[in-house]
Amino acid sequence: MVLKWYGEWGCVCAAYNRALIDRPEFLMDCARKMNKLLTAVFAVSVACVTAASSAQEIKGDAAAGATKVALCMGCHGIPEYKASFPEVYEVPKIAGQNAQYIEAALKEYKSGDRKFPTMRAVASTLSDQDIADVAAYYSTLGVESGHTVPDEPSIKPNAQVAAILAKANCAACHGANFDKPIAPNYPKLAGQHASYLLVALKEYKAGSDNPHFGRGNPIMGAMAKQFSDADLKAVAEYVSSLPGDVKTVAIPRLDPRFK
Ligand code: HEC
Ligand code: HEC
Repeated sequence: MVLKWYGEWGCVCAAYNRALIDRPEFLMDCARKMNKLLTAVFAVSVACVTAASSAQEIKGDAAAGATKVALCMGCHGIPEYKASFPEVYEVPKIAGQNAQYIEAALKEYKSGDRKFPTMRAVASTLSDQDIADVAAYYSTLGVESGHTVPDEPSIKPNAQVAAILAKANCAACHGANFDKPIAPNYPKLAGQHASYLLVALKEYKAGSDNPHFGRGNPIMGAMAKQFSDADLKAVAEYVSSLPGDVKTVAIPRLDPRFK
């Protein structure tokens, strides 16, 4: 019952997000209200657990995460939903992404290594436990057992893209099929929105000098800086065309954990 009510709040926030995707200061306010609500609802049940577990290592709990994503669903739960800063592009698919990568990304927004203002505002309201929980939730959301992606993609890159992939050896880290990266804190890229992949690559290229746009990750900075924006666009389109695990899962109230 409580979770159903919380789900309703998610819808209020979805409408709010639609209007405010470029206004992080208002989003902050929404996020604060959501958090207050959460705190009030769950404080009693959580109090004793917190005292017992505070000294232990943080472990993500997908079921707990399901109660913390109403705000997120307003953007990440709407297929083809678009952000308009600094250009129009699709909000990334995060369901089925690696948990450790989701965690790392949220911590980078929180610390300011990633500059995208709205996600910085969102991540700043999350504790390390919240981050671990929502990462566990999204990494398992929409995952079908038995679903596998081929080790080598059947779609071959054109000559321009093949040259870029060879020069930067993207597969050495992201996997030959761009869906099985070599480390769990590296992202799955196959099937991600092309418009988002391109913006992400431009953000690495921009580095961390601009306060509102860019990502400080040195590995991907070095990769992206070798190429023109036209090259990055061609790579983004190719990687997006490959079959992969990441997806957008809509209508969280159909998720059994919300019932
Ligand atoms: C107002 C819309 C909006 C809301 C609300 C929102 N996000 Fe995001 N999120 C975005 C956009 C846009 C990006 C891409 C930002 C960039 O370019 O770095 C993003 C990026 C991310 C990424 C990085 C994805 C990747 O592949 O690197 C993660 C993880 C993420 N969001 C998780 C969340 C979680 C968890 C919540 C809720 C606690 C949330 N987001 C709420 C719009 C939103
Ligand atoms: C040496 C390892 C390595 C190589 C080589 C590499 N990457 Fe990455 N890539 C990473 C890591 C690590 C991240 C996560 C960085 C972060 O935390 O922001 C990443 C992130 C990305 C992202 C952001 C994904 C998202 O969801 O936001 C894209 C896009 C990407 N890489 C594309 C490429 C392409 C295209 C190439 C080849 C031109 C490449 N990478 C080569 C390690 C690598």
